[in-house]
Amino acid sequence: MMDPKQFAARFPQDFLFGVATASYQIEGATRADGRKPCIWDAFSNMPGRVFARHNGDMACDHYNRWEEDLDLMKEMGVSAYRFSIAWPRILPDGTGRVNEKGLDFYDRLLDGLKDRGIKAFATLYHWDLPLALMGDGGWTARSTAYAFQRYAKVAMARLADRLDAVATFNEPWCSVWLSHLYGVHAPGERSMEAALHALHYTNLAHGLGVDAVRQVAGNLPVGLVLNAHSVVPGSDSEADRAAAERAHQFHNGAFFDPVFRGKYPEAFMAALGDRMPKIEDGDLEIIAQKLDWWGLNYYTPMRIADDRAEAAEFPATVPAPPVSQTKTDIGWEVYSPALGSLVKELYARYDLPPCYITENGACYNMEPVAGEVDDQPRLDYYIDHLGVVAGLAAEGLPMKGYFAWSLMDNFEWAEGYRMRFGLVHVDYQTQKRTLKKSGKWYAALAQAFAQKT
Ligand code: FCB
Repeated sequence: MMDPKQFAARFPQDFLFGVATASYQIEGATRADGRKPCIWDAFSNMPGRVFARHNGDMACDHYNRWEEDLDLMKEMGVSAYRFSIAWPRILPDGTGRVNEKGLDFYDRLLDGLKDRGIKAFATLYHWDLPLALMGDGGWTARSTAYAFQRYAKVAMARLADRLDAVATFNEPWCSVWLSHLYGVHAPGERSMEAALHALHYTNLAHGLGVDAVRQVAGNLPVGLVLNAHSVVPGSDSEADRAAAERAHQFHNGAFFDPVFRGKYPEAFMAALGDRMPKIEDGDLEIIAQKLDWWGLNYYTPMRIADDRAEAAEFPATVPAPPVSQTKTDIGWEVYSPALGSLVKELYARYDLPPCYITENGACYNMEPVAGEVDDQPRLDYYIDHLGVVAGLAAEGLPMKGYFAWSLMDNFEWAEGYRMRFGLVHVDYQTQKRTLKKSGKWYAALAQAFAQKT
């Protein structure tokens, strides 16, 4: 096994090793202290949406067990924790009345992190839109962007003093395309029109959120977390290479271009622009404000071939077969070189601020045997991908930190609890936490790194 001490020596002096989670995936207590439903409560309670109709009612019961969970992080020796704030706890109707009890929970959490010397990286939106906002159309309505701005202000006014960084959105690709075009995530919409509206209003909300953070907490580093796709053409043919470029525009450019260049990609606009909502004067300036950092979530490459069908809609692509035969239990190809090429490609295409890997990890569903979880393939995945990150830093790319997804097994969205990504195993019957083999190794790495600095 790779020696954590030797490995730790490969990372820059100011690097952070952290773990990540998200509110709906771990908190449970969905009816506690004034919280009202979010779109994932509604979606997961509808038959046929989430595996075996699992929902977030209990999840990891982190709302009640947060101290135990912070102690676990402290024991592991990680220096940063990335979590998300639940909008439906703070503003249960999306707009209107502020729920102090919801803010109190994050107060306790942040004080707990401070007491333990762990840095706090908050995400404002990790997909739990207050259900009440669906009455206006959810993300397809411009008013939701302004509701988000208000929420960001309220949350930051109370919590920013103990944060080390904040992100507006987690993976808008998922809350836009996966949720409004492919119908896999809440609210389960399948319409290009709806998706294009959600796209622009999410981008606008990001910009308004950056404004809100800067108004109330001028010094807090603000960023955005994107699951940029490493788009790889399935062959060298001109058609497949052109398809990969279209896929880049659709899957990455629709988010990166407005934020980092102040405009939507050209071919994308030529194909779909007439179905976009009105882009009002000043929108793109709001969206394109300079960020202090950005986060990349990476799991697997996206292999693309040209879709020759006459009726194919932009980006007119089909999946190409995987190159590596190694897959995780959720079926995602394991291929670490794509992480390296992706980061380099994005820095070549865009003028990007410093980067944190805000999520990376693997799904393997091993259960404890005599109190031990032997998840060697997850450990191999981490060693492989962390090696790529160390290599990027050595080549001079501004890699600032790495957050493992996830601290513990949790509600994996449409897959429910059957897909496990944790460094810590959770027994959902007893809520017992067990550090896996991968978690022990990651803890040793974080500790070795802390000793070196
Ligand atoms: C990402 C999500 C995160 C988790 C991982 C496996 O897309 O941001 O919440 O579900 O995938």
